Parts: sequence; structure tokens; C-alpha cells
Amino acid sequence: MTAALVPARYAVQLSGPVDMDGWREAARRLVLNGIPPHDIDWQVDGVGDLLSADRPLPPLPQNASVLSVPRAFPERAATVACHSDHDRYAFLYRILWRLASEPKLLEIASDPDVVRLGRMEKSVRRDCHKMRAFVRFVQVGEGFDERFVAWFEPEHFIVERNAPFFVRRFTGMRWTILTPKGSADWDGENLSIGPAASRADAPGEDAQNELWRTYFASIFNPARLKVKAMQAEMPKKYWRNLPEASLIPDLIKGAEKSAREMIDRIPTTPAPHHAKVQERYWTKAEETAVADGEAATLAELGRQAEGCRRCPLWREATQTVFGEGPDDARIVFVGEQPGDQEDLAGKPFVGPAGRLFDQILEEAGVDRRITYVTNAVKHFKFEPRGKRRIHAKPNAGEVKACNWWLGNELRLIGPDVAVALGATAAQALLGRAVAVTKERGRTLEREDGLKVFVTVHPSYLLRLPDAATKTAERGRFLDDMRKVKGLMGA
Ligand code: URA
Repeated sequence: MTAALVPARYAVQLSGPVDMDGWREAARRLVLNGIPPHDIDWQVDGVGDLLSADRPLPPLPQNASVLSVPRAFPERAATVACHSDHDRYAFLYRILWRLASEPKLLEIASDPDVVRLGRMEKSVRRDCHKMRAFVRFVQVGEGFDERFVAWFEPEHFIVERNAPFFVRRFTGMRWTILTPKGSADWDGENLSIGPAASRADAPGEDAQNELWRTYFASIFNPARLKVKAMQAEMPKKYWRNLPEASLIPDLIKGAEKSAREMIDRIPTTPAPHHAKVQERYWTKAEETAVADGEAATLAELGRQAEGCRRCPLWREATQTVFGEGPDDARIVFVGEQPGDQEDLAGKPFVGPAGRLFDQILEEAGVDRRITYVTNAVKHFKFEPRGKRRIHAKPNAGEVKACNWWLGNELRLIGPDVAVALGATAAQALLGRAVAVTKERGRTLEREDGLKVFVTVHPSYLLRLPDAATKTAERGRFLDDMRKVKGLMGA
């Protein structure tokens, strides 16, 4: 007696844990050929039923009918494909198979497959939400090498699905998110999805985490403390990767006192006139929008910069504060970024630091009107604190994004010397982190021949605590400005 030949099952090899295109293409061919679910072995990364023979998929039948599924199914299936259940692709095929004969299947809320589909979707969505809330970046590298790395342990394969959120949120930073279920990297322009990583690939606890703790302690709202809800939202399994988690017990203990203190300094929304200035600005900027490109004049470049969205700072700032001065200026002064008053006026160096700067320039015999004054970053970066907007230092990604404008300003002006007022300006002009105290008073030459004179920022003089130091430092800054004058036409 000869044994009956058992036809081998179809083995579908998917290209990775989330391969919706691969699944869709194979599932379409299989379902239209009438291949039932139990005849298919879905394999991810070679993991599947090892007994399956490598039976080629059947081609699409001639005159294949269109495969129609409920409108919501593709998106629901794409969500479930991120689930960590190893059976997910077989399960999705079973649903697809059933939909061919039960087109209203998804509307039967009591059907066990429909219940399971809903649960899996929910679990993936929840995991995405947790990742958005609990990813903590750690800074690695300085200056132009600055980047941010985070380690996170998701339950499902959600990295690729969630990555666009982080691109939108942290456009101006270069970052990598490492997880045991895949990784994502954003270099400021391109997003790449990579393989799984291990904890050892990620930087450990460091000063940046200390920063997180300070931030968390400052945003922690004791008046809204709900311990149970907090623990539900921040399940213990995420705690070990959260630098701020160690603070929670103490913060809870001190909550009542902090709540009282908080009421005393309830933050208020920004002054209404800020919103008005911003609205007026954007109405005009959108009417006269000009695309970025090789501008032929400073005026054209300034119009392009009005709509700048190269980094996220434009969202909170009132307007772009572009450079100001003639296009044949021999000196270009570069500050850090506009302050509160500059942001509202739309002009650089008009606030307290600007007024001091004007006085010292005058004493040094430099007429500001024949110089060009600009900033490394053209939008005001701040943290709202009550009614005030507190200056926040721009990060390397923001400085780099804004270098497009500074580079073009220098190209169009071609000055004898650019003066870096402070570390951010020096970094923008020289393309590296600069220790201002060390390089102060020196004239460095860039590869393109531009001379860069390095000095402190005038706001440094305003922050000095005692009168004697203030006078001495003001004198040093005046000397620096005299040296700058000597470099004009040199
Ligand atoms: N500080 C700067 O660096 N630039 C300004 O425009 C104002 C203050």
C-alpha cells in the first residue's frame, strides 16, 4: 500500500516583524485562489512551522475578482500587524478569509475573532501612547556632534508606526530611539528604521537624566495628584527606564505643600498683545510667502525667512527676527537668538542687551548703522513661566537648522569680519563648540577666509553680580569692540 501524498502547506516568508506590504500581496493571492487559513504558514524572520515545505505561492487567478474588504479593515490590520503575538499574520488572514463570505463580520461585536481584533488594536495603540509619553532622550556628543539617544522597551513592534510622531515633535534634534523591537534614527532630514537593539547599545544614566528629574519635578502638578491614576498611566514596568521615577514617592509626600505654593504662582497665558502681533505677522507672512532658495538680495532672503519652519521654534515665537543693516556692511555682529523684546519688535538687539551693546559700540567709535546685526537663531526660544517668557538656550540642531540663513547673510554681505557674541554665535560661525573664555579676543579664520572675532555676549555683562566685576568686564568688552573696529577694512 502506498501512503497518500499530503500536499505541502504554503510558507509565506515576511521580510520583518511589520511587513504589511508583504502580507497584503501574499494574502490577496492566497485568498483569491481559495487557499484556506490552515494551509498557510506565515513566517517572520524565518520563525514559523519548520515542517512547511517551500511551496511557491499560486499566481493571481486569471480574471481574479477584486478583493473587497470593509473600508476600515486595512488600517485595523496595519495596527494589528504591529502586535507582538506571533500568530498575528495568520489571524489577520483568517479574518480576511472570513470576510470573503461574511462581509459584515466586523460589525458582529460578539464574534470571538472580532473581539480579539479589537483587543489587539487597543493594546498596540496603548503601547504607542506609552512610548510617546515615556521615551527619554539622553544627550551624547557636543556641538555639531550633539545627538540624543533613548532606550525604550515597547510591548509591540511599534517603532516604525510611532517614529513620525517623534520626527514632528523633535524635528530640530538628531535622535535615535533604540528598542528590543527595532530602532529609529532621525538625522535632521531622514528617518531610518533599523533592527532591534539591546540595552547595552544605549547610554546609561547621566547628567541629562538629572535634567529630566529637575524638569519633571518642576512640571509635577501636586494639585492634580491622583496616585492611582498616575500608577495606571505610568505602569511600574516603565519605571526602571525613567530617570524621574525615583522622585515620585517624595513628590507625593510633599504634594500638599507644593500645591499651596503652586497656587501662589499660577501660570498665566501670554499677554494678549503677543497673540495679536503674532497673528498680524503670520497673516502678512503667508500673503507674501516666498520659497527658500538662492536669494539675490538680503531683502529677498529676509522675506524667505519670514515663513521659516526649518526647526520647531517658529511655533511658539511671535515672528522671525532677521538680521538688520546694510548689505555692504564691513562688520557682521552675530548674537545668539532674539530675546523677549526682540521677538515682539521683530528687530535684533533692541532689548536691554541691545541697548548696552549700542552704548559700548558708540564709545568704541563704531556706528551700528553701518554694521549688520543678526543672530545665530532667528526665533525666540523660551519657557513660559507665569507671565514671563524665560530665555532658553537653543540646541545644536536648532543652531544648525538656522545656519542656512546666517550662511546666506554672510554670502550676500561678504564682510571683513564676523563678530561672534558668545558661544552659540561662535559655534554657528565656526561649526564647532567654542570655549569663549579661551578664545576671547582672538581672530580665527574660517576655511572660506572669513575672519571671526570671538567675544562674550553683552547679556553676560548684565548678569554679573557685583559692580566692580561689571565695570571691569564692561571695559574688556569695550576693548574688544575697539579691536573689532581695527579689523574693518583690514
Ligand atoms: N540677545 C541676542 O543674542 N540677540 C538679540 O537680538 C537680543 C538679545
